[in-house]
Parts: sequence; C-alpha cells; structure tokens
Amino acid sequence: MPRTVAPYPAARFRRMRRTAALRGLQRENLLATDDLIWPLFVREGRDAATPIPSMPGVERLTIDRLVARVAEAADLGIPAVCLFPHIEPELKTEDCAAAWDPENLVNRAIRAIKAEVPQIAVMTDVALDPYNINGHDGFVVDGEIVNDETVEALVKMTLAQAEAGADIIGPSDMMDGRIGAMRRALEAAGHHHVTIMSYAAKYASSFYGPFRDAVGASGALKGDKNTYQMDPANSDEALRLVERDLSEGADMVMIKPGMPYLDICRRVKDEFGAPTFAYQVSGEYAMLSGAAERGWLDGEKVMMESLLAFKRAGCDGILTYFAPRAARLLQGRAGGG
Ligand code: PBG
Repeated sequence: MPRTVAPYPAARFRRMRRTAALRGLQRENLLATDDLIWPLFVREGRDAATPIPSMPGVERLTIDRLVARVAEAADLGIPAVCLFPHIEPELKTEDCAAAWDPENLVNRAIRAIKAEVPQIAVMTDVALDPYNINGHDGFVVDGEIVNDETVEALVKMTLAQAEAGADIIGPSDMMDGRIGAMRRALEAAGHHHVTIMSYAAKYASSFYGPFRDAVGASGALKGDKNTYQMDPANSDEALRLVERDLSEGADMVMIKPGMPYLDICRRVKDEFGAPTFAYQVSGEYAMLSGAAERGWLDGEKVMMESLLAFKRAGCDGILTYFAPRAARLLQGRAGGG
C-alpha cells in the first residue's frame, strides 16, 4: 500500500482526533451485536442457577432458565449461543457414552431452545471432556489420549447434536482428522445445512481454568492437554492447522484463547480470508471481571475495548461471556446513548 505522510506541520494527526465527529469519520473497525456468540453453561434440574465463583456474573442454568436467557439474547440481537454441559461426577465414565446419548443434557437443551427461540443459532461443543472420568477431550488408553477411536466417538456426538437441531458444530477436541470425518457423516445423514466451526488453533492454555470449574472438569482432569492442544510458542503451526481444517470442510475457524493470541487471528484472516472467530475464554473473562470487581479497571470500558480489539485483529466474530452486556451497551449506543 503506497503511503504518503506530509512532513509536520502539514500533517498533524491530532487534527482528525479533535472532535467526536472527525474521530467517527476515520474509525476503521466497529463492534456490532451480530459479531457476538454467547457461551452458556447448562445443568440438570428445574428453575435453578449455580454461580461459578471464578467467573463473576456467570451461572450454570437449568434448561428452563437457559431458554429464558436465550430468548433475551435473541431479543438483544445476539445471533448465536454456544452450549456447555455441567455433568455430575457420578455420570462421568471411561467410555463417555453419555456424550452421544440423544437424550443427554445438551441435546435436550438444543431441542428446548429450538422449540422456543428457533431464530437463534445454536452452537455445540464436540469433545469428550465433560463426560470423561479423567477429564480429557479424548479416550485415554494406557495413559495415551488416542486419536482415531476418539474421532469415531466425536462423529457419533456430532450426529446426535445435529439430530437435536444444532446449527453450528464446534469441535474443540484437537484430534486429527475429525473435521473431515464429521463433514462426511453429516452429509451422509442428510445434514447438509449444519455448519462446522473448527476450534482449529486451540492452544494448551492455562486461561481455561475457570471454564473447567464451570463444567466440573477441574477435579477430574489428570495431567495436561499438551499432547493434543497447541504449544503457545507456535504460530506457523496455527496456519497449517487452519489450512488443514478448511480443506476438510470447516465452514468457520476459531482461534482460542483470544486476547493473548491476536497475532494468530490476524495471520489467519490475512492468509485464508475465511470466516474467522476468536474465543475470549474464561480466564480472560475472569481477569477483566475480577479487576473490575475490585475497582482496579473500568469493567465496561475494558470489556468493549477488548472486544473491539478482536475486530481490529481481523475476526468476524467473538465467543464471549460478555455477549449480553456488550449487546446492551451497543443497543444504547444505537439509540443515541
Ligand atoms: C473443552 C473446552 C475447553 C474450553 C472450551 N471447550 C477447555 C479445555 O480445553 O480444557 C475452554 C473455554 C473457556 O475457557 O472459556 N473441550
């Protein structure tokens, strides 16, 4: 891109920053409500909510309460929600059979949402960790997280979710070959319209700690996820993974976590131009909310600044626990606030 910058004082950058009108004219990126995907935690029971201490303001919801919140999200203009189940410890097994049970918590929640709020897109999580007695995303055989057997299970899980009405399948497991296997199975079963958002570049991150509390996997997890999730030191590998997943039929790709990995978002968007998303994960939410609670940061301002940063980095959308709060602020702005 040719650039011409006149020497000072012909060029004074502050001229264009002097008034809100001029700043608005030269603003390059904008956050909109339809950039937001809201992750929600679902639990068994009726008319109840359990707060998650490491995620202030976030609760695990029973399906009836969940549907009510999803209806609010739809009213706010949020285009999609993403569901994560909290499974009781006694229901976790080594064979993870509950993961593809058509009547499991997530599949019942999808049906309930689709019956009441059909216009909102429902995204799911495909990985075995909520159901696994050892907290891993794949089957563990003799201490190894096995790939190909896990992919077979993930395909069954995918089909059960598609059958229940999921719009976006979100494989977060980082097994090799799963996108192609899922796409083939979806096509064969007549689910041509069901999309896949691949967690393509998912790092082995310590920023997932509060999420594991939320889904009840913290206690269960034995060891770490370093043999399947990415090394935080790598960047070229992320491009190879995104390319691989797109070539297998992913409709959208995701980078996760978000804020510490904005360089990856930018590289992925520039290189492939595919629909690109980032997940502002639980630890990022906890950092910002925890500091805001103590009065160390202005919570609303850092929330909006952090979300705008994803747009600047090239993301088309963001999975964020702030979604309804951000949407409310954006609505206020649209109304002249
Ligand atoms: C599990 C999964 C994780 C998250 C989404 N799906 C955690 C993990 O990989 O251990 C993290 C989300 C968050 O931290 O907000 N497959």
